[in-house]
Amino acid sequence: MSDHGNQETGAGPTSATSAPIAIVLGSGLRHVFGHSERVLEDISFTDAGLPASTVPGHDGRLTLVEFAGRPVWLVRGRVHLYEGHDARATTATVRWLAARGVRTLILTNAAGCLNPAFAPGEWMMLTDHLNLTGTSPLIGGPHFHDMSRVYSPQLHREFIDSAFTRGLVLREGVYAGVTGPQYETPAEVRMLRLLGADAVGMSTVLEAIEARALGLEVAAFSCLTNMAAGISPTPLDHSEVVAAGQAAAGAFCDLLREWLAGPPAAA
Ligand code: HPA
Repeated sequence: MSDHGNQETGAGPTSATSAPIAIVLGSGLRHVFGHSERVLEDISFTDAGLPASTVPGHDGRLTLVEFAGRPVWLVRGRVHLYEGHDARATTATVRWLAARGVRTLILTNAAGCLNPAFAPGEWMMLTDHLNLTGTSPLIGGPHFHDMSRVYSPQLHREFIDSAFTRGLVLREGVYAGVTGPQYETPAEVRMLRLLGADAVGMSTVLEAIEARALGLEVAAFSCLTNMAAGISPTPLDHSEVVAAGQAAAGAFCDLLREWLAGPPAAA
């Protein structure tokens, strides 16, 4: 039996005030949230029956906090295809959150920057993605799900408005999701640019696909931690990616607070 729902919500966080929101925190972001907020629940991936991550910087905890007056699940860490997990395992957290009433999923990730007009340290809101992982969490069903609107236009408008209010630079673009675990070659980076991608990373696309199949509203953000290989003059290093994510995290936290505190949308 499939545990995917078919229901469409149409309800963004502003119109479903009691439903918890979930925020998946990518590399370098996991320690930024949850310090000043009231913790309502805190559980490890393992205790939740979810696959545990083996990657430094992805420790795997689910923390329910009250954030700007809203219940928010902070997902610290995720599991990746490159750890040897399959597509269903990498999206188990999304199904767990949906089963707990989450209707709005905010995904964050660290990504290499492909668009020469963007700069490391900036944030990019995903307008669409290229799933280049060669797999899908929907293998086995449901089949043929519409993906013409993976990233919620309503959330897009709300976050763009919030960024404007805060005076924050928020880029918009297409994210290419690859398997990794190695970073790209310069030839691969040239190919990704030709395909129309603005950023490249090793997560997010499968979670977004799963969430849409479950009827969740999805927004996703890339912290552009480095110029991608070949564009960057120096070799890439994971610890620098994590450090760049940490350095840029404050701006995203500000954006999130602004959005969570924002006025309710007209019904
Ligand atoms: N490529 C893929 N994934 C990444 C990168 C990159 O350059 N930077 C951070 N995550």
